[in-house]
Amino acid sequence: MNPNKALWEKGDFTRIAESMRESGEALIDSLGVTPGQTVLDLGCGDGTTALPAARRGADVLGVDIARNLVEAGNRRAREHGLTNLRFQEGDACSLNALADDTFDLVVSIFGAMFAPKPFDVAKEMVRVTRPGGRIVMGNWIPNDPTLVAQILKISAAYSPPPPEGFVSPMTWGVEGHVLERFGAAGVPPERVTCVRDTYTFDYAKTPAELLAVFRECYGPTMNAFDAAEKSGRSADLQKELVALFESQNRSSKPGSTSIPATFLRVTVSA
Ligand SMILES: C[S@@+](CC[C@H](N)C(=O)[O-])C[C@H]1O[C@@H](n2cnc3c(N)ncnc32)[C@H](O)[C@@H]1O
Repeated sequence: MNPNKALWEKGDFTRIAESMRESGEALIDSLGVTPGQTVLDLGCGDGTTALPAARRGADVLGVDIARNLVEAGNRRAREHGLTNLRFQEGDACSLNALADDTFDLVVSIFGAMFAPKPFDVAKEMVRVTRPGGRIVMGNWIPNDPTLVAQILKISAAYSPPPPEGFVSPMTWGVEGHVLERFGAAGVPPERVTCVRDTYTFDYAKTPAELLAVFRECYGPTMNAFDAAEKSGRSADLQKELVALFESQNRSSKPGSTSIPATFLRVTVSA
């Protein structure tokens, strides 16, 4: 089994995605999605950005490597009565089911960054975007002090070293790598912009309870706990992560959680 696929099918990302819906809506609002536009949401999960894009009248395809998330997305599309939204399995490294120059907008929010071959990913995103279209990526930033970068950093310290040749997904959060990858796909640097933006995790329970959801459902955190259990360090990992979630919480409502996290927003004019 492809380890990238196994990682994301291991957990149930839908439970984390529920804490990200408001930011997904806001992001789609900021993109000015219009009726009739063709939109690809790549690494779409259960449709945190695909669904609001479809609600604004776009013709939306969600592609994700995880079968369970594709099923969850199609279920949500049915529940919302959206006939202009469908989800299918696919790998961002090789979108061979999709024709060249198909989409007005390709969105990938914390999705394609996790695919193992970043140069192929950039090439594929450019290939399926029509000339004059746009690609928008959201990528976590290495060593950023906010939530997700810190979860991944702490988790890495409890995990075995990655296999040789592994390219960290976090490199997508570094402007130089972004320019190099899109450059190799034929996009000159003046057609790429990188700005910092914020996604907020909102949860009606405590930060420790949100961490419990990550521990149960977020592939990278699940793997870190599996490794920490083997080395007898899972209590230390739990303690570090609880401290992180609590220190990042900005909610003024007792017992609830609101954690803003910084990401690199990449926009490419194809
Ligand atoms: C952190 S989740 C984000 C999901 C969604 N974009 C959202 O904002 O809720 C990462 C997603 O990327 C998907 N993914 C990881 N590697 C992929 C690949 N090679 N091709 C397509 N999807 C991939 C995972 O299955 C997962 O749904």
